[in-house]
Amino acid sequence: MSRVALVTGGSRGIGAAISIALKNAGHTVAANYAGNDEAAAKFTAETGIKTYKWNVADYDASKAGIAQVEADLGPVDIVIANAGITRDAPFHKMTPDQWKQVVDTNLTGVFNTVHPVWPGMRDRKFGRIVVISSINGQKGQFGQVNYAATKAGDLGIVKSLAQEGARFGITANAICPGYIATEMVMAVPEKVRESIIAQIPTGRLGEPEEIARCVAFLVADDAAFVNGSTISANGGQFFV
Ligand SMILES: NC(=O)c1ccc[n+]([C@@H]2O[C@H](COP(=O)([O-])OP(=O)(O)OC[C@H]3O[C@@H](n4cnc5c(N)ncnc54)[C@H](OP(=O)(O)O)[C@@H]3O)[C@@H](O)[C@H]2O)c1
Repeated sequence: MSRVALVTGGSRGIGAAISIALKNAGHTVAANYAGNDEAAAKFTAETGIKTYKWNVADYDASKAGIAQVEADLGPVDIVIANAGITRDAPFHKMTPDQWKQVVDTNLTGVFNTVHPVWPGMRDRKFGRIVVISSINGQKGQFGQVNYAATKAGDLGIVKSLAQEGARFGITANAICPGYIATEMVMAVPEKVRESIIAQIPTGRLGEPEEIARCVAFLVADDAAFVNGSTISANGGQFFV
């Protein structure tokens, strides 16, 4: 069935691949972004997917943005909480601001994205929520105390929402990508990238489309029995 899907951070990287996969699956997609107007305009021109600018760290902005999406496209049945940032530093050098920015975006941002759509999903007795966590939320990572904490917290959100939403036909699941070939990872020096790839048994970075494929599976109408789960897509780098 064709539904309305919202993808936060849906204009670039993994989020862009998810937006395109959901469109190709027959859904009407709204792609949110934070501030890169040029990338968002290019994405809309290339894909025909509408983009909406707001900061997921801001509850009121999220609520207003989602209200606009629903006014334009209809009730949101599928939410992909994908927007995320890094502000890396070894713990002894990490500033309170680096901690706060990452918590506000990666953890509170998920609350801000799901909370406004939750009552409608309960009323309509259908909802699909997917949170893009990370391998580093599962295993921790040097220099990422802030990021790993939020990505582990995302798994707690999903497991709790799964229990609260199940009797309303709502599922909540997480995907933990390993290292994916987005601008963020391709920007690191080649030597560092090679050392990352050396830790991946598959011998390469993942592609954004490989994460999008997991999302398309989880949001399908007939995926109702998959609830509260975490899919690891990391080329065999880490097993839970
Ligand atoms: N890449 C990896 O290897 C990897 C691995 C594991 C997990 N992940 C997770 O996957 C997700 C996507 O990562 P990515 O590498 O595709 O990121 P990316 O290429 O940096 O793209 C980030 C997207 O999120 C948006 N965004 C950032 N902060 C936002 C905010 N406060 N409000 C609204 N939108 C915001 C950006 O908008 P603008 O274009 O306006 O900046 C952009 O559309 C993140 O949650 C990340 O933690 C990535």
